[in-house]
Amino acid sequence: MPKPGVIAISGIPGTGKSTVAKALGRLLPAPVWNLGDVAVEHELVGRDESGRDTQVVDTDALQDTLREEIPRVKADWLVVEGHYADVTPKEYIALAVVMRCKPDILWERLAVRGYSEPKVRENVQAEILGDCTSYMLDLELDSRLIEMDTSGTTPEAVASLLLGIVRTPAKAENYPPGNINWLQYLDERGELGKYMRGSDSKKG
Ligand SMILES: Nc1ncnc2c1ncn2[C@@H]1O[C@H](COP(=O)(O)OP(=O)(O)O)[C@@H](O)[C@H]1O
Ligand SMILES: [Mg+2]
Repeated sequence: MPKPGVIAISGIPGTGKSTVAKALGRLLPAPVWNLGDVAVEHELVGRDESGRDTQVVDTDALQDTLREEIPRVKADWLVVEGHYADVTPKEYIALAVVMRCKPDILWERLAVRGYSEPKVRENVQAEILGDCTSYMLDLELDSRLIEMDTSGTTPEAVASLLLGIVRTPAKAENYPPGNINWLQYLDERGELGKYMRGSDSKKG
């Protein structure tokens, strides 16, 4: 595997990528790149044409940029984190991590950020459906892919679990993708409708 080995951390906004990535960067130690920052630095961000309150990143160009910049890093490890961390050139990914968070807790975290209700709902629904995990699975990585639940624990505890997995990759087997199932979690609480309705009433 080419160096540095990238720990690619994906996840819906609010699941804890940035906080955990910084903590992991201190523990390893390793540089930490936020993909949003990389995209801005390389001027790969544009306005969303559809007029939604969001910005779009040219992910193909971002991938090309990462392919150029990653080999310049003089370290054994590099932590790359972002909502679309699946753009990381897969040949560098030593460990792929998807941060997960219970829907009710994620709702709180995003509401505190001041996101509008539709934007909170859209993100929570994507979390319930495991979108970021699907995108990572689509890469068909040779390296390990794990899911980490950040609800009911601390960023430091998650970072320390990740450090353990980087040091002893077999430990990844305790966190396989698919272990986390928020549909079942909500169904058991009778709360599925509360989160899944009203996704886009206009589409019908
Ligand atoms: N176990 C945990 N791991 C990560 N973040 C947590 C955890 N518990 C609570 N949080 C809080 O959740 C928020 C996550 O925000 P952030 O790291 O910016 O997420 P993201 O980068 O995925 O959008 C922070 O306020 C953080 O303190
Ligand atoms: Mg972040």
